[in-house]
Amino acid sequence: MRKISIKGKKGNSNIFVGEKIGNMDKYIDVSNTIIVSDKNVIRYYKKRFPDCPVIEIEDGESIKTVATVEHIWKKLLELGADRSTFLLGIGGGIVCDITGFAASTYMRGISFGFVSTTLLSQTDASTGGKNGINLNGYKNMIGAFDQPEFVICDTTMLKTLPKAELYNGFAEVIKHAAIASKSQFIFLEKHRNDILDKNPEALEDMIFNSVSIKAKIVQADEFETGERKKLNFGHTIAHGLQKISNIPHGEAVAIGMVFAADMSRKRGLLYESEFRRLNRLVYNYNLPTSIKCNKEKLIDAVAKDKKQHSGTIDFVMLNSLGKSSIVPLDNAAFAKCINDFDFSNLFGGRL
Ligand SMILES: NC(=O)c1ccc[n+]([C@@H]2O[C@H](COP(=O)([O-])OP(=O)(O)OC[C@H]3O[C@@H](n4cnc5c(N)ncnc54)[C@H](O)[C@@H]3O)[C@@H](O)[C@H]2O)c1
Ligand SMILES: [Zn+2]
Repeated sequence: MRKISIKGKKGNSNIFVGEKIGNMDKYIDVSNTIIVSDKNVIRYYKKRFPDCPVIEIEDGESIKTVATVEHIWKKLLELGADRSTFLLGIGGGIVCDITGFAASTYMRGISFGFVSTTLLSQTDASTGGKNGINLNGYKNMIGAFDQPEFVICDTTMLKTLPKAELYNGFAEVIKHAAIASKSQFIFLEKHRNDILDKNPEALEDMIFNSVSIKAKIVQADEFETGERKKLNFGHTIAHGLQKISNIPHGEAVAIGMVFAADMSRKRGLLYESEFRRLNRLVYNYNLPTSIKCNKEKLIDAVAKDKKQHSGTIDFVMLNSLGKSSIVPLDNAAFAKCINDFDFSNLFGGRL
């Protein structure tokens, strides 16, 4: 078991990679904790939960709404929760986001922590203290910055994770490597077969490295005013693609990263050989590098993204594998890049 710490403005957060859900008693007062979890995680793991009341929620992005948070607030009230109650989210990114937001707002804020059960939430969503819900179909429009007291990444719980969810996580793992760690990039190239076979040691090393990269970026910029924007690598296009087609987040991020790397190479920032290495890595982790899409619709969807400010996009480019920078681009320049990009004719590809 290995620990990573983040010092937040409002409190510290410890992430334990390789810890087991069975050891929860070390981290919580069981008599004063309430659990939030989704129906699938409850079905698989209820027997391993600590002995506390459980608030069950449905699964899926559509439940990440204020209605679900209200359901949790009301249950907390019914269960007699007060300012000393601890809220424990056990689940993937959706459970963690909702639990964090419900805890940050109930009685002006109670303490919370996570047992993270998907690869995406272990490597990305549960680290960093951003807790959000969706509004009118716009992702994470309402939310708070509040660090969980702890995050437990029990890698044995990934055994039951559907393959598609594992691939979603790989996209974010590749993202962290591409923007900030050449050594993790090489690790992913070298250990691909072990990782895809869910070899426990390889998985744990990969997750630990990935969380460490994110933690370092978050530590440098907790409230996303600069450095942290690099975590949006591949996401400008990804969010646009998800608005116009029904593809999973990881696949959209994969294509978005290839797009951003292509732009970086066209601007002379990234060597052609590095661009090809990124494509190959994405492809080798069973993620797509291309898609058939309507460019006009994509340009429109990107222009409507909430992360834009006054018609400018903070676009993340690669300077090399493991190094990135933020380049402001106006809408017209960005639309031209989309028009110039060949979405259907890159290395490999699956969609
Ligand atoms: N707060 C952040 O910084 C941040 C960062 C990235 C993503 N996110 C958010 O994370 C969410 C996506 O998270 P996710 O990909 O973990 O999806 P998820 O929480 O929907 O989980 C995916 C599916 O797997 C099931 N599941 C979870 N753990 C399981 C297990 N161990 N075995 C079997 N099934 C399991 C869930 O019930 C669900 O059906 C999005 O809403 C996104 O906005 C937040
Ligand atoms: Zn993402």
